[in-house]
Amino acid sequence: NRVYTIASIPGDGIGVEVTPAAERVLEATQKRFGFRLDVEAVDYASCDYYTKHGRMMPEDWKKRLEGKDALLFGAVGWPDTVPDHISLWGSLVQFRREFDQYVSLRPVRLMPGVRSPLADRVHGDIDFVVVRENTEGEYSQVGGRMFAGTDRETVLQETVLTRTGTDRILRYAFELANGRPRKHLTSATKSNGIAISMPYWDERVEAMAQHYPEVSWNKFHIDNLAAQFVLNPSQFDVVVGSNLFGDILSDLGPACTGTIGIAPSGNIDPERRFPSLFEPVHGSAPDIAGKGIANPIGAIWAASMMLDHLGESDAAAAIMRAVETSLSDERSRTRDLGGKADCAGCADAVIDALNAA
Ligand code: NAD
Ligand code: IPM
Ligand code: MN
Repeated sequence: NRVYTIASIPGDGIGVEVTPAAERVLEATQKRFGFRLDVEAVDYASCDYYTKHGRMMPEDWKKRLEGKDALLFGAVGWPDTVPDHISLWGSLVQFRREFDQYVSLRPVRLMPGVRSPLADRVHGDIDFVVVRENTEGEYSQVGGRMFAGTDRETVLQETVLTRTGTDRILRYAFELANGRPRKHLTSATKSNGIAISMPYWDERVEAMAQHYPEVSWNKFHIDNLAAQFVLNPSQFDVVVGSNLFGDILSDLGPACTGTIGIAPSGNIDPERRFPSLFEPVHGSAPDIAGKGIANPIGAIWAASMMLDHLGESDAAAAIMRAVETSLSDERSRTRDLGGKADCAGCADAVIDALNAA
């Protein structure tokens, strides 16, 4: 019997609501597909933990988690009690960096029965993957504040692009494109304005493309690319971007497919030296937290990606079929998708569809 050790890290806000929903779906799959998940509940990496301990995680967090097969994560952030840069850099960003999860894989798909805010788009029209660089770029610790509090106050934050870091994310994106039917890659750039780092990015894209003659590729400046997401999302297959560009595109893409509530994310170490982390793209949503109305599909889809990563691709596909079935029924959709279901009810519908298949 196949057994995987998982740490479940719900975090804050709706993270605490959608993660148990995803866990219930996972539980329903293991019975059917002959594997077992050994899930350890993690009570740190939350703003509550910070309030009690003055830090987001225990000092030995890395030791506690590095032996796990995967991490299932909810969302962190409660800005009323802990500033976001402290809570996020003390948890999620640490996981990504310390576990070298350099690929952020973020599928964007218009699901059956879901209405896109863009006119005349139907299921099948929008289906691409954002590949976001996840460990360097604009998210750097290089910089500082000088002459604080004076009128000479000066703040610097550098963008860091390494050859290794740039090439490995581009290689991953080209490999991914090469394995997809359309074999198309789009690179997010801004080499007209950000005139040091982005021309370098373009140069590395061009160099990497030489190794993938079957992949057709193009690039857009990020401002135009954002517009293209809205005007003509059907053109995209694999979209690769730096840390910040990828972050922005991976909220915009899902918004074009109805809601960010369904979008999943894999934070992946392709070399498997460390556990990879799977989470919804969305945050802790303080505006709806505690009401039980959050859409759990992003977390459930992320759980499916986790199973795929663990090699349980049949179970992963079964979850996605169940998600599609439940989404096509208005009664099982949450309010962000115009339905009336609550978080638990939406997860129940997925589990019902799973059991009925
Ligand atoms: P957010 O994603 O939490 O919310 C944005 C909007 O989308 C809100 O109106 C929210 O109600 C809605 N929304 C998000 N997820 C939803 C779901 N599952 N179902 C229905 N509606 C949903 O982004 P924000 O408001 O910018 O950030 C809130 C907090 O979350 C901040 O502390 C932020 O730093 C943090 N955050 C954390 C993560 C993460 O842990 N991965 C990601 C993004 C933001
Ligand atoms: C995401 C989030 C995080 C990011 C924040 C919360 C640090 O927006 O996972 O997309 O910018 O990476
Ligand atoms: Mn984001």
